[in-house]
Amino acid sequence: MSGRVVRWALCGALIYDPTLADYGQLQANIPTVPFVEANNAILTLNESFIEDIKATSAKCGFDSYLDKYLSYPPPGPQSPSGAYDPKCDIWSEMAAAWFLVNPCQNIYNIADGCPIPNDPLATHPNYKPQVYFNRPDVREAIHAPKNTHHLGPGKINHLVDTNWFECGLAQVFPFVPSGNKTGPEGQVDLSPDPIQHVLPRVIDATQRVLISNGNYDALILTNGSLLAIQNMTWGGELGFQKAPTEDFVVPGQGVMGKAHEERGLMWVESYASGHMQPQYQPRATLRHLEWMLGRIDSL
Ligand SMILES: *[C@@H]1O[C@H](CO)[C@@H](O)[C@H](O)[C@H]1NC(C)=O
Ligand SMILES: *[C@@H]1O[C@H](CO)[C@@H](O)[C@H](O)[C@H]1NC(C)=O
Ligand SMILES: *[C@@H]1O[C@H](CO)[C@@H](O)[C@H](O)[C@H]1NC(C)=O
Ligand SMILES: *[C@@H]1O[C@H](CO)[C@@H](O)[C@H](O)[C@H]1NC(C)=O
Repeated sequence: MSGRVVRWALCGALIYDPTLADYGQLQANIPTVPFVEANNAILTLNESFIEDIKATSAKCGFDSYLDKYLSYPPPGPQSPSGAYDPKCDIWSEMAAAWFLVNPCQNIYNIADGCPIPNDPLATHPNYKPQVYFNRPDVREAIHAPKNTHHLGPGKINHLVDTNWFECGLAQVFPFVPSGNKTGPEGQVDLSPDPIQHVLPRVIDATQRVLISNGNYDALILTNGSLLAIQNMTWGGELGFQKAPTEDFVVPGQGVMGKAHEERGLMWVESYASGHMQPQYQPRATLRHLEWMLGRIDSL
């Protein structure tokens, strides 16, 4: 970046199904039981298993933690989560039990089952068919150029002959040497959790930050994201002061969630959406984008 100054002003941010704090406890184990109870018509876990994880959840202190801290306004800052305890890992137990009843399980979207839905970019976590746009017959049929396409001196369109795949091949998270558990989340990333510092500053400066979680996401649970927000101080106060209960209406579609704003932070709970919200609920996410860009003032 030497010698170059970027002068764009950051005007807002839009974040889906994020890891905001201790994702292993706050965003997974602690809210697992209510997640299972709310979604068991889809998950189909058996009664004895549910009784088991309920007992573990109570014993590990998760129920009382939720009762205390998932409240509005929150009673105070949450204490740091304790060390990982494999006996309390009910999220992993839930995922394993659910895999037995749904071998086409998609952790990003509980509504998926067998057969695995058509997926041109092969985004399913357990099943990777060939990416549609990489098939030679498809490239042939759509007349995709066979070689890197030169647009002029020094300019190459790298998109045409791209090997398409989901996400990036380059490491996007810090590399984790095995056994090295440094950083607040034990993932070698030494930065503090977003709720501690970076996120509140962006909210306070822009007054246009939208955080949303899809209710069909089994990896990052909606109530866990809310729990993380209830441990964040922005605009001079800790957490949301009022419960997020207002309907989020997508014009022409219906009530697609709950939307709630305080002090420049908009929270949206998304109905019938998996982790990749623009994929699962595109009309809803277009509204989110319009709000973030300042084209509409409420949701
Ligand atoms: C989320 O928490 C609220 C309030 O504690 C509870 O009523 C609801 O059932 C929970 N939902 C899920 C999906 O966990
Ligand atoms: C909650 O925030 C406090 C203070 O910012 C921090 O010390 C604590 O570790 C956080 N708790 C969790 C569970 O993230
Ligand atoms: C209930 O689910 C658990 C966890 O998958 C499994 O071990 C157990 O065998 C199931 N019970 C019955 C009756 O299928
Ligand atoms: C673990 O990673 C951190 C951060 O990258 C580094 O400072 C530290 O030296 C590493 N520890 C070991 C034992 O490799």
